[in-house]
Amino acid sequence: MKNKKLIFANWKMNFSSEQARVLVESIIDKLNKLELLKGTALKIDAEVVLAPAFPSLSFVSSLIRHTGISLSSQDVFWEAKGPYTGEVSPSMLIDVGCTWAMIGHSERRQYLLETNEMINKKVLNALSQDLNIILCVGESFEQRRRKNTFEAISDQLRRGLRGVTESQLNESEVVIGYEPVWVIGSGEAASVEDIASVHNFVSDELKSIFPTLKSLPRIVYGGSVNSENIEQIASLSNVDGVLVGNASMDCDKFCDIVLKVVK
Ligand code: PGA
Repeated sequence: MKNKKLIFANWKMNFSSEQARVLVESIIDKLNKLELLKGTALKIDAEVVLAPAFPSLSFVSSLIRHTGISLSSQDVFWEAKGPYTGEVSPSMLIDVGCTWAMIGHSERRQYLLETNEMINKKVLNALSQDLNIILCVGESFEQRRRKNTFEAISDQLRRGLRGVTESQLNESEVVIGYEPVWVIGSGEAASVEDIASVHNFVSDELKSIFPTLKSLPRIVYGGSVNSENIEQIASLSNVDGVLVGNASMDCDKFCDIVLKVVK
């Protein structure tokens, strides 16, 4: 899977199960019409992953069964089970059909005060259960303004991935989501120059963290990706896919993004 482009839909805290049903069925229908999905498999050289909120996971899982579309949570806890009210473990996610967990999204870092240490424990726990992860990193506006972008990202990567072994990376997928915090939800993505330069930096950091790893984790870009800017972003040689928020919650816009990524 590692050479395929990844298109990751982050629905955040949106949708009742009925709204999720309508959206998933429309996406499947549209991908079928576009001949990107046929029978039981995606006919494209890309992976599509949907990340609904926890209460819809099980339901969405049943809707996408036999389509080739994968399921992700938007978070996961760092313990396997026990007295952790409100939390969800990797095995519970796997039980409802998730093959992916998103970890370290900037909204969780900001509103839930998640630290790199907490994120690292989540990463290690998810990988110990063979769950694939997308680890989100990205600089704040202030960090960019102070020209601390690379420093901030290096810190998030090195502390977030502490203790991850190369053999774990051969067994599960780790994807790095570069999401500049200041462009998320803004309607305007980072410039292609900025995206390319940060992706190069992330790639160099990964080479230095995992010096003997043959196939490095994929690096995807997120932050105001839409059907207008996707072609430019996806054409960058060091962009292995996209993490889409707002535009993933609209069937036409999302399917257009999928189409333009694979075209
Ligand atoms: P956005 O969100 O596409 O709405 O900017 C991306 C994200 O938060 O993952």
